[in-house]
Amino acid sequence: MAHLTRRQLLAATAAAPLAAQQGEFVLRGKKPMIVHNDFPEDLESLPEYLASWITPNDSFFVRQHLPRPRVDAAAWRVETGGMVNQKLSLSIADLRSMSQLTVAATLECAGNGRGNFRPRMPGLQWTKGAIGNAHWRGPRLRDVLLKAGASPQAAYVDFDGADVPVGKVPEFIRSIPMRKAMHESTILAVEMNGVPLPDVHGFPLRLIVPGWDGASWVKWVNSIQVQAQPNPGFYMATAYKYPRVAAVPGGAVKPEDMEVLEGMAVKSFFAKPGEGAKVRVGQSVTLAGIGWGGENRVTRVDVSADGGASWRAAVLGREDFPFAWRTFSFEWKPARPGYHVLCCRAADSAGRTQPIDAAWNPPGYLNNSIERLGVVVEG
Ligand code: MTE
Repeated sequence: MAHLTRRQLLAATAAAPLAAQQGEFVLRGKKPMIVHNDFPEDLESLPEYLASWITPNDSFFVRQHLPRPRVDAAAWRVETGGMVNQKLSLSIADLRSMSQLTVAATLECAGNGRGNFRPRMPGLQWTKGAIGNAHWRGPRLRDVLLKAGASPQAAYVDFDGADVPVGKVPEFIRSIPMRKAMHESTILAVEMNGVPLPDVHGFPLRLIVPGWDGASWVKWVNSIQVQAQPNPGFYMATAYKYPRVAAVPGGAVKPEDMEVLEGMAVKSFFAKPGEGAKVRVGQSVTLAGIGWGGENRVTRVDVSADGGASWRAAVLGREDFPFAWRTFSFEWKPARPGYHVLCCRAADSAGRTQPIDAAWNPPGYLNNSIERLGVVVEG
């Protein structure tokens, strides 16, 4: 396991990120990433990888609780069971022969930004880059559920992947409510950005739950069970839950006061320039970043170059799809030398905006505090 110290993490996200990775673990098919664990791999994207609307597969973050399974795609079957009329056993060819949909959607780990909460809490100390935006393609989950004759009384659908528990880590099973399972954009993806899913991203089959945090996006799906209740296992009953009422920072929350996370917060950050970048007085510099709002669309992003004292609207990128982040840019011509704090703040179609400081919570989820990025203007 390769845990980075806070200093190494900051170095890795600062001006010379690639140099900071030298000698580090690099996964085949990936650019150098911030390595939180090397087995199973937990890899964070560098901010500058997130400057484009689509995140290429080689720069997409990786998160898994268990080592990824060995997969024989030709023999792969996904079984449906539980409250269905018909138990199905579908091959990848069966799934590819169904009507296919391409969805552009942002995948973010619920714990993205955990490393910035104070006081700290246990868990992976993600900074910015446990997020990416991709084109996902495959059949609608709804079509598979209808083919299996899912009971109208069933309220949940459980998904299990082929990764197997190791040591004390429990099996990774997640449930989503039937209304989200039947949503027209919820798909079982066989492709990511136009190619078969890479191994680490769930080859040959993963669930895409647009607008929801990454915990529901089960990889290596081989079992779909239609149920009356959510799965009672650890990853539904205990993990990925958020306080119903705001917690006192550093305090505890009773398990019965936690509820299952659904959706995502509204959030934005700068992809460029990097923390500590040097720019010149009077010279225009492009501040570029991304904003997203889960199931809601981003309607504006405002930028401040004076630590939040004054704000101006950024220009939003032309790609505007439900569930996908929007890029933004802002041309800034610094007038004075010295240290400047840049901030960005997104608003979405549900009327939400980012708080100065996100609500602290024991598991460290949904950190959408307004970003403060320091740059130095040289005279
Ligand atoms: N699926 C399985 N089978 N096992 C896992 O550990 N991790 C989940 C989800 N799907 C996980 C999984 C979590 S917590 C996240 S954030 C996303 O996968 C990460 O997806 P990625 O590795 O493709 O970026």
